[in-house]
Amino acid sequence: MAVVQSDVRLSECLIWDLQRKYYAKKGPEAWSTGTVPMWITNHPRLAGAFAQAAVSFVLDCLRGSGHPIRAGEPIHVVELGAGTGRFGFRFLRRIEALEHVLGPLGVRFRYVLTDISKSTVKGWRKHEQLAPFFASGQLDVACWSPLDDAPLTLEVSGERLVPGSLANPLIVIANYFVDTVATDLFRVGQGALDEGRVTLKSSAEGQGKPKPADFPHLSCEYEYVAVDAAYGDELLDDLLRWYADNLDETYHVPIPIGAIRALRRLEDLAAGRMLVRLADKGALDPSKFGGEEQGTPVVHGSLSFDANFDALRRLFEADGGVSYANHPRAHLSLVALVSKLRATDLPGLSAMWADLVLRDPCEHHGVLQEIQKGKDKIKPRLFTSLLRDSAFDPHIVSKFQSRVLPNVEKAGAGAREKMRLALETAWEQHFYIGEDEDIEFLFAALFFAIGDYDRSIQLYDVSRERHGEHHVTWHNIGVISLRRDRYDEAIALFDKSLALKPDYAAAKKNRALAVKLKGAP
Ligand SMILES: C[S@@+](CC[C@H](N)C(=O)[O-])C[C@H]1O[C@@H](n2cnc3c(N)ncnc32)[C@H](O)[C@@H]1O
Repeated sequence: MAVVQSDVRLSECLIWDLQRKYYAKKGPEAWSTGTVPMWITNHPRLAGAFAQAAVSFVLDCLRGSGHPIRAGEPIHVVELGAGTGRFGFRFLRRIEALEHVLGPLGVRFRYVLTDISKSTVKGWRKHEQLAPFFASGQLDVACWSPLDDAPLTLEVSGERLVPGSLANPLIVIANYFVDTVATDLFRVGQGALDEGRVTLKSSAEGQGKPKPADFPHLSCEYEYVAVDAAYGDELLDDLLRWYADNLDETYHVPIPIGAIRALRRLEDLAAGRMLVRLADKGALDPSKFGGEEQGTPVVHGSLSFDANFDALRRLFEADGGVSYANHPRAHLSLVALVSKLRATDLPGLSAMWADLVLRDPCEHHGVLQEIQKGKDKIKPRLFTSLLRDSAFDPHIVSKFQSRVLPNVEKAGAGAREKMRLALETAWEQHFYIGEDEDIEFLFAALFFAIGDYDRSIQLYDVSRERHGEHHVTWHNIGVISLRRDRYDEAIALFDKSLALKPDYAAAKKNRALAVKLKGAP
């Protein structure tokens, strides 16, 4: 093992530069290839819950108990490390559905997708599903890191957000972001406070500076030194001292210093009036931070450290704010932080959050996993319920299409119509990010089985545009022509299928049938 760097704070370790390089270089490819996890943080249930939280917060403010709102001025929602943009798209669609309430109240949201990757930001600007939101002024973008000093300049409007420039409170959203940016590690408890100093080692072949591709070969080893005021910052140092004095065993507690600095910068933009909503793999309780493994990054293309949400909650509360969280054992930790207000100032948001704790938007995932284990065919009714329960997540189509398809044609008209409506809504939630999976084909085949042939042909066309020609696509469109008694058209379509795969038996058989029916008197 070669030593790459020694005796530094974890937040000063080279791995964070490598992390930035990884994302800057990969851009949208980090997700289209399925390398970096993203399903749960972009889930329609989560986007819906947070659109609702944002609206509840704003309504509280309008009622006069929260931060003042200037009607007519936009309320900026800044998403950090927004990646695919899928969460923002789904959030905006939910807000759009409430326009009839928000418009007359003079409430206008402006969602700002931000990321450090230039190619990611370029991808958003070209994305046809985002175009209507750009056109209406509801969406803007910035290639920006809240960890750097550069101002937040919105690319479309040209607006520069600087400290104090926002007329209204700011809403910040960060999914899988706290665990992505710099963190420190402390050994605390029983009165002791020791800072972890890292030695970064690499088992990668060859010499020279490590690259992001070396992530699986890098390891962090720690030595601990006693510290008193590690940050020279009252709130942070008090927090560390609290951990040292109140934990009755020794724990290895990460401090998400990158996220803390980022949130402070953002809070300044709105002069201390901010709602933050975070979702991450992390802990809401410091006793979860057991041994030194806390200082070992998890590698999944990029790398991540568990987020210490307990620290963020304590910091906000110590500074006069309020925090909300979901169940400590939930699959994904969800946290909302509001600066300089108490829960009683926010009755709407507090009530909404109590409901979220009972019906955690992410826990649907456990039910799905169980059903996914089965191999049996499923009925359209169950499929439709799964779509509804997921807030119409297209992922349900990916996972269950082959199990429901054989049952669709024989289902009753009522069940097929319900399924058609649910599929339409799921299709609206489908935000294309260049994945290899041809989900468009899966949707098209379901519309075909339901008997909505026009919709099926439209989606087969989208499948061809995004994923290229396929013999089964031409064959399936041919079958629609055959069923519509358009024999010449059907024969031409089967020919296209056979040109791509001359021995495709279904196309041969159906072509022969079309020829026969055409010749029939
Ligand atoms: C784990 S991904 C999460 C993406 C998305 N929020 C999601 O949940 O699917 C982390 C994102 O943060 C961005 N990122 C990484 N380091 C950053 C930094 N220092 N400043 C801003 N964005 C950063 C990456 O480009 C990437 O899009």
